Amino acid sequence: MVSDGVDLHGYTIIKEGEAEILMHSSNTVFYNKAQVNNRDMSIAVLRAFIKKRKEEHAGISNRKVKSNCYINEAIPPSCSTSEEANLVVFGEANIKANVTTNGIHEEQANENVDASDDISNKPDTILVKAHGEPNPPKVLEALAASGLRALRYAREVDGIGPVVAVDNDEASVKSCKRNIRFNGSIACSKVEAYHGDARVYMLTHQKEFDVVDLDPYGAPSVFLDSAVQSVADGGILMCTATDMAVLCGGNGEACYSKYGSYPLKGKYCHEMALRILLACIESHANRYKRHIVPILSVQMDFYVRVFVRIFTSASAIKNTPLKLSYVYQCVGCDSFHLQSVGRTVTKNKSVKFAPGFGPAVSQECSDCGKKFNMGGPIWAAPMHDQEWVLSVLTNVKAMKDRYPAYEKISAVLTSISEELHDVPLFLSLHSLCATLKCTSPSAVVFRSAVVNAGYRISGTHVNPLGLKTDATMDVIWDIMRCWIKIHPVKAQPRDQSGSAILSKEPFIQANFARAVSSLSKAQVKKVARFLPNPESHWGPKVRAGRKITSKHLSLLGPEALNGLDISKKGNTGIDAPTSYEEQEEEDDKSEPKRQKTGDESASCS
Ligand SMILES: C[S@@+](CC[C@H](N)C(=O)[O-])C[C@H]1O[C@@H](n2cnc3c(N)ncnc32)[C@H](O)[C@@H]1O
Ligand SMILES: [Zn+2]
Repeated sequence: MVSDGVDLHGYTIIKEGEAEILMHSSNTVFYNKAQVNNRDMSIAVLRAFIKKRKEEHAGISNRKVKSNCYINEAIPPSCSTSEEANLVVFGEANIKANVTTNGIHEEQANENVDASDDISNKPDTILVKAHGEPNPPKVLEALAASGLRALRYAREVDGIGPVVAVDNDEASVKSCKRNIRFNGSIACSKVEAYHGDARVYMLTHQKEFDVVDLDPYGAPSVFLDSAVQSVADGGILMCTATDMAVLCGGNGEACYSKYGSYPLKGKYCHEMALRILLACIESHANRYKRHIVPILSVQMDFYVRVFVRIFTSASAIKNTPLKLSYVYQCVGCDSFHLQSVGRTVTKNKSVKFAPGFGPAVSQECSDCGKKFNMGGPIWAAPMHDQEWVLSVLTNVKAMKDRYPAYEKISAVLTSISEELHDVPLFLSLHSLCATLKCTSPSAVVFRSAVVNAGYRISGTHVNPLGLKTDATMDVIWDIMRCWIKIHPVKAQPRDQSGSAILSKEPFIQANFARAVSSLSKAQVKKVARFLPNPESHWGPKVRAGRKITSKHLSLLGPEALNGLDISKKGNTGIDAPTSYEEQEEEDDKSEPKRQKTGDESASCS
């Protein structure tokens, strides 16, 4: 059978959103159905980005109309709030794209924006360019495989510009080209497929894309250096990492070598994974006088995905050490403490940058007397921008029918919208109780005690049982000491962390009376925040072209192995992984187990 000039013989048609792709049973090109959540979330961010760009562009146009009349509406030189800085730099990037493609000139334009005092000095031609609509955003899908994602962007996101799909695998590029033709005229006019190494492509297209999407097998680390250079000022880098075992502490030295940060095995490890990835992207961006502004950071299914904007500013990168922290994690109890990498010193109105004061903790944990592991550095500044989160969530709700993974992504975004964005990492009530060997207060009771003590507390999208709070560990343990006074526990051996903690009297008297803000708004309205997986084996898939063997049983399920003889170990590759790539695949598989609960069973959040 032939359709749109494409011979369909031997292919299955897979439809996701408004795109259709042709998949051959030979597994030569990568496709993972479970990544529909990832693709839907990215489409939602793209739609919010297009709206935001228009608003920012209108804002800069208004400014320029005024500055054209030589009303010098001074933009503060140090432009300290990110919103203000972003607005200005973004507008300049747009203008710059219209006037020059010369890298040196671009840099000067940005430096001027940093100095921020000479918008009115720019030639008239530039001012005129700022008026109409911004150019439709140009997107690079750097690791495209079948092109499904690129095709969905092109077909589903109104106002999107050209979408370039790159892959270094010939079969994938062939398949992508076939899929472009199969998806008709919009796809043909917008999506272009190239064969090549994404790193080379990005390096040779510096600051050219408003959106760069990285969706690799395993770690994205080798692509980051070129990716941060390929994003235009004010543009977005979207980046997935599926090597969760590495990022979550299963293989700390591998994490350090890939991301430059030590992971810790706390309950918060999935959030730490997001923060390690953000810190790593920032570090690459800083090399080129650039910095990131995270807008949304998501841990879903078996991976993390971050959405960050990238700006150029030689002065702003001095702030990076203030946004990074080391983490001290007690090996005995659940206490953790953050230590900032840098600090500022203000003298006579001038701000100087200095290394952070340390150590933030003594040699032994003040709660239980045990030692600390030190992890990081991690991104300790907010990893979401609430305005963006709400904008994405509003769009998703308004276009419900156009998101195949609506239930999942709206639940995740709802949870994120309720997180305390200025509190890195989180506690687990269950681990606190495990340390003390006590019965657990309900989440509402515990949250109430924290609120009544004068602190804030929220859930986290990363773990239905996690709690983010600005209360210090001293306060948390005091609340638990008070809880145990009314729910006594058996005496424990003296060397146990729990005994050391309970040997002290509480400093504060906890009040467990139900506090109004002890439940999240979504909980009150019974809006879902956590959903179970829709089907079994909802996880990473085998690399394209890889022979499927019995070692993939846990990954793909028995259906995928039907017809294979799995009894002959030597023939089926059951042995330990032999290559780095296979090890990566093992890392993906051995992702630390997470609670896959629905909202109902997430009684602790
Ligand atoms: C996980 S798949 C991408 C899936 C796709 N983004 C989607 O949503 O369906 C990763 C792809 O990256 C490609 N790839 C790996 N290294 C590459 C490189 N250096 N340059 C370009 N493509 C690469 C692989 O061939 C593979 O097709
Ligand atoms: Zn301790």
